[in-house]
Amino acid sequence: MANNSLLFLILAFLLLSGFFTKTSSAFSIEEATIDDLQLAFKQNQLTSRQLVEFYLKRIRRLNPLLRGVIEVNPDALFLADKADRERKVNTPGSTGGLHGIPILLKDNIATKDKLNTTAGSYALLGSVVPRDAGVVMKLRKAGAIILGKSSLSEWANFRTDGAPSGFCGRSGQGKNPYVLSATPCGSSSGSGISVAANLAAVSLGTETDGSIICPSSYNSVVGIKPTVGLTSRAGVIPITPRQDTVGPMCRTVSDAVYVLDAIVGFDSNDAATREAAKYIPNGGYRQFLNPLGLKGKRLGILRTPFYNSGNDKGSRRHQTFEHHFQTLRRQGAVLVDHLQISDVDTITAGQNGELLATLLEFKPALNEYLEQLVASPVRSLAAVIAFNKKFSRLEKTKEYGQELFKKAEFLSRNITNIDATLKKLVSTFSKLSKNGLEKLIKTNKLDAVVAPDFSYVLSFVLAIGQYPGISVPAGYDSDGVPFGICFGGPKGSEPKLIEIAYGFETATKVRRPPAFKP
Ligand SMILES: *[C@@H]1O[C@H](CO)[C@@H](O)[C@H](O)[C@H]1NC(C)=O
Ligand SMILES: *[C@@H]1O[C@H](CO)[C@@H](O)[C@H](O)[C@H]1NC(C)=O
Repeated sequence: MANNSLLFLILAFLLLSGFFTKTSSAFSIEEATIDDLQLAFKQNQLTSRQLVEFYLKRIRRLNPLLRGVIEVNPDALFLADKADRERKVNTPGSTGGLHGIPILLKDNIATKDKLNTTAGSYALLGSVVPRDAGVVMKLRKAGAIILGKSSLSEWANFRTDGAPSGFCGRSGQGKNPYVLSATPCGSSSGSGISVAANLAAVSLGTETDGSIICPSSYNSVVGIKPTVGLTSRAGVIPITPRQDTVGPMCRTVSDAVYVLDAIVGFDSNDAATREAAKYIPNGGYRQFLNPLGLKGKRLGILRTPFYNSGNDKGSRRHQTFEHHFQTLRRQGAVLVDHLQISDVDTITAGQNGELLATLLEFKPALNEYLEQLVASPVRSLAAVIAFNKKFSRLEKTKEYGQELFKKAEFLSRNITNIDATLKKLVSTFSKLSKNGLEKLIKTNKLDAVVAPDFSYVLSFVLAIGQYPGISVPAGYDSDGVPFGICFGGPKGSEPKLIEIAYGFETATKVRRPPAFKP
């Protein structure tokens, strides 16, 4: 009897002291937030090595199906051990933030390590970058573990309009983990797929027009498209420096904000970061993770033509959004409904102008990236086009063509004064933005606009205005395909957008893990 109760006491002590948690799975990594992971590190329930081992195992198991990851970092476990050692001896900066947290990077973001940086194309396999991308330098400084590279629509969807979203030569077709037959959207498809399916803690994507917001919407994750220049584009395979931006794609608003805090700021290799640094608030962005952030916010609802098809009255999407609008009001937001951005037709027509400007800007930007590589199979857009012609069978991309590349290469021959053409287009974008979103916000005294669902019109407005946007999970349609809600605002409005997005997420908690339906 006495022996038994002693045994019981010892057992109870061992259980309470967490003796078994190291070997049992008391702490669940799946769906864990950065806050959860940091707490588990602190309480010795988890190491970065265990975390990386978990993700590597999951990638081995699920990636052959999902194809969200192109490469894993052969040094990931080494980096995890280093993080664990630093935490153990209390190295300054080794608690909290991104320290010891594994992150996946879209494959157009350069890393100077064993990983390739290829934009999903064989043409860049074996190229050697001169240095880490600006955002990667900041991530490493914050102690994040580069877990690998995520897949994308090849060349960030600027090779051809003919290929499906989420397809690239090197990794094939990325799959939506919720409904495998549905699009994952792109071009940051792999980043969305991978964090949704818990193949990594957090990820980075890039956006020129829609490439963070759309895959975030379709993969039920939170995506932040920062104001252009807030995050450095140095070392990112470019489309156009006028619109390109790098941002987090994560399972929660707070995770995305922690990543944003780590990557924003001045970088001597990207001039635009100097000007945009004025938008960064003292103390960073996490102070805006306010669960009551919706209180007193004025939000303008953009409906037509922002609703996608399938949003007709009575549809599940439509009802869900009406419900969300009620929730926003209940949380203290003032909704100004049925707003129209003026000249929305001109804006839509302006998309042709955007393509023309982007095509003209792409060639010099890409050539500059290729020329500064330490080594590369291709050194110019012309060489990439020739490579694709020669190796299209190897890439299985033959049927998808490369007409955008060809246009970008040859357009300059047809246009006599490129500089004047570009200047005119850019001034049109600026006018459309001032008379569009900026005027709408001013006249209606709005803090932000909200668009139900992903919309190419809104992504275009945000693109040419260099404005920020945040997509938050909003629901699942009758097939189980996720959709998001998008909040947008003028340059530098990230603090307000974060308060709104966090307030919305706290009040709704829509996200659930994927079910891998066929
Ligand atoms: C990078 O590409 C080379 C082929 O050029 C390959 O041998 C290597 O394994 C790749 N790196 C990783 C980390 O997959
Ligand atoms: C350039 O002009 C020629 C002749 O008008 C035309 O056939 C060709 O399609 C144009 N190329 C591009 C890329 O617009």
